[in-house]
Amino acid sequence: MFNSRVDELQDLDSRLIWHPYSPAPGAMSNLPVASTSGVYLQLHDGRTLIDGMSSWWAAAHGHSHPKIVAAAKQQIDAMSHVMFGGLTHEPAVRLAETLTRLTGLDKVFYSDSGSVAVEVAVKMALQYQRGIGHPERNKLLTWRGGYHGDTFAPMSVCDPEGGMHSLWRGVIAEQKFVSAPPSGSDFGDFVAELEAAIDDSIAAIIIEPMVQGAGGMRFHSPALVAEVRRLCTKYGILFIADEIATGFGRTGALFACETAGVNPDIMCLGKALTGGFMTFAATLTTDAVAEAISSPAGGGALMHGPTFMGNPLACAVASAAVSLIEEGQWREQVPRIETELKAGLKPLTEDPRVQDVRVLGAIGVVEMKRPVDMKATTDAAVAGGVWLRPFGKLIYCMPPFISTSENVAQICRAVRASVEANEE
Ligand SMILES: Cc1ncc(COP(=O)(O)O)c(C=O)c1O
Repeated sequence: MFNSRVDELQDLDSRLIWHPYSPAPGAMSNLPVASTSGVYLQLHDGRTLIDGMSSWWAAAHGHSHPKIVAAAKQQIDAMSHVMFGGLTHEPAVRLAETLTRLTGLDKVFYSDSGSVAVEVAVKMALQYQRGIGHPERNKLLTWRGGYHGDTFAPMSVCDPEGGMHSLWRGVIAEQKFVSAPPSGSDFGDFVAELEAAIDDSIAAIIIEPMVQGAGGMRFHSPALVAEVRRLCTKYGILFIADEIATGFGRTGALFACETAGVNPDIMCLGKALTGGFMTFAATLTTDAVAEAISSPAGGGALMHGPTFMGNPLACAVASAAVSLIEEGQWREQVPRIETELKAGLKPLTEDPRVQDVRVLGAIGVVEMKRPVDMKATTDAAVAGGVWLRPFGKLIYCMPPFISTSENVAQICRAVRASVEANEE
């Protein structure tokens, strides 16, 4: 039998459950978490870790934020899920009012996860082009190095090498790609390449503005995002901003598009939308797009309608999380975290194992010269009291905005220890 509950949980977990991007049974055992509070994950074995990943960008206000928990409890007592076909409710309506006000967009489509929000964005773009008399515009244009989710339409616009396109050749839709966006301000040639790729088949350009997340944690200039907007307007195609990772303050602005001074035609939101409390996403667009979709040529309706669309609990939780954003403490927290990450990670620029160190807002990235040893890297961070989840050559962190200076210093120490856990 098992020595402890931890052993039992880990054994059953690895035998029964798939984890992200893992074989089954699992190759590495997963750490059982018993509870969460603020920046901390309390493990079943008694250890406490700072969540240096904000649980993949989501727990922006830390875990189990009292305001979010209170909103969830109140909503649970009021109603369970009700179908959204033919019915509505106040949590959905109030959240839509807030999201349209914050984004400057006009219409909201709720869905269950970021990937589905991107699916919906793609459908919107294709139906829009049919609606305005361009059914031949049925492809997406994007740049390499992107990540937009794991269902089939998002996969088709993920980086063709990192995104498992070779596994799915002939199955996923073929989209058009240009090079990965350059990181500096010298992007004239790149914009020319992007413009040359726009032909009669293109319905929309989809990008993650300013930060390419899971495709490589690379940053590009907001001025380049503005160029994407300019080209979309010039050629009558739609600009889809996937702000699922960047939205709600992570880069230092409310949305990365705001830094670029542009409005997208379609915006995808998720992750921090519920403060990491639960899965939920939204795709927003303009009246013009909605009208074209609703025309007979556009299909007459947006042809999507998940069972749990507009889930009242998720909407109430999202409203509470967005109200924390509106309170605005992140406007001081994120720039402070940025300064502290820059200082704390800077020594790594001298490390022979390290290719590059980059920081933007509350995002710190150490790119190694070689792929990291996952176990040694993670173990080193955990030994330092911090949860990090490296991938490929990247050791990175996205601290919750509520992290204190001491929390950020501890995260930086753990990143440095993780780097040192790898051979030169
Ligand atoms: C930019 C971006 N788009 C879409 C997604 C997919 O979201 P989800 O994992 O909720 O399906 C992610 C998730 O990492 C993301 O970072």
